[in-house]
Amino acid sequence: MLLELKNLSKNFGKIVALNNISFTIDKGTIFGFLGPSGSGKTTTINIVTGQLKPSSGDSFVLGKNSQNIDQQIYEQIGIVSDRSGVYERLNVYDNLAVFADILRVAKNKIDYYLDKVGLLDRKKQLAGKLSKGQKQRLVLARAILHEPKLLFLDEPTSGLDPTTAKEIHNLFLELKNKGTSIFLTTHNMEEATKLCDELALLDRGKIVEMGSPKEICLRHNQDKSFKVRTTKGEEFELEASKANYDKLYQMFLNNDVETIHSCEPTLEDVFIKVTGNSLA
Ligand SMILES: Nc1ncnc2c1ncn2[C@@H]1O[C@H](COP(=O)(O)OP(=O)(O)O)[C@@H](O)[C@H]1O
Ligand SMILES: [Mg+2]
Repeated sequence: MLLELKNLSKNFGKIVALNNISFTIDKGTIFGFLGPSGSGKTTTINIVTGQLKPSSGDSFVLGKNSQNIDQQIYEQIGIVSDRSGVYERLNVYDNLAVFADILRVAKNKIDYYLDKVGLLDRKKQLAGKLSKGQKQRLVLARAILHEPKLLFLDEPTSGLDPTTAKEIHNLFLELKNKGTSIFLTTHNMEEATKLCDELALLDRGKIVEMGSPKEICLRHNQDKSFKVRTTKGEEFELEASKANYDKLYQMFLNNDVETIHSCEPTLEDVFIKVTGNSLA
């Protein structure tokens, strides 16, 4: 187990930021924390990476209590927090060279990872002159430079354009395939659906659902139905029933069906159903 949370709670005065959170992350998986702003995502990352004390409960990173993380553990994890920035006055290459020294990484890895995040041609450019998306990619390159076993990403694509976000998503999947585990927080349903093997839905400091994105959606797919569009352009919804299946069968035989979709809920639908709130 690379990460384990046991009954973690955190209060800030009267505010209950986290309420009895437990889960584990195994090797080579992407675990997502999906919740709206203020639900406790950053607080969780801060506690499990040893930057904040929990009010109660424990968490363990690579078997070590988060409150006692030492250099040896830091050399095996990567963190992109919502405060991660770049050294604006250093060029792109030197931003990574500083970390290569601290983390004892061979300098030849720098070009490799700059290439991975699509910044190799910007190597000599001042980091302060990069666009927002480029800065985020530099922050990511820095977090993966030492090839960590476990990567913590706090809303890593928040505010980026879709193309850059997609490139970054592909990089996460590539890292996962190489055996890196990722703990990712997001308020973006599409991102969570696409990337995460396992997911916890977080609402006001509480986990309200957990499982793979598919499992979660199917668990809430009670009134099964299908959306049909006929070749004549009519659209309607059919509830799952023997009579409707017979009707559909006839329609297929007559070549009347243009498109058909099952109407299982999205993660956003589930979130609204369970909490009464939206993810935004
Ligand atoms: N240092 C702090 N002092 C007081 N309240 C805080 C502090 N950090 C977070 N909170 C509160 O804890 C809750 C969870 O915040 P946070 O973990 O930042 O949520 P998220 O990252 O999901 O947006 C919010 O109500 C926030 O206002
Ligand atoms: Mg946050």
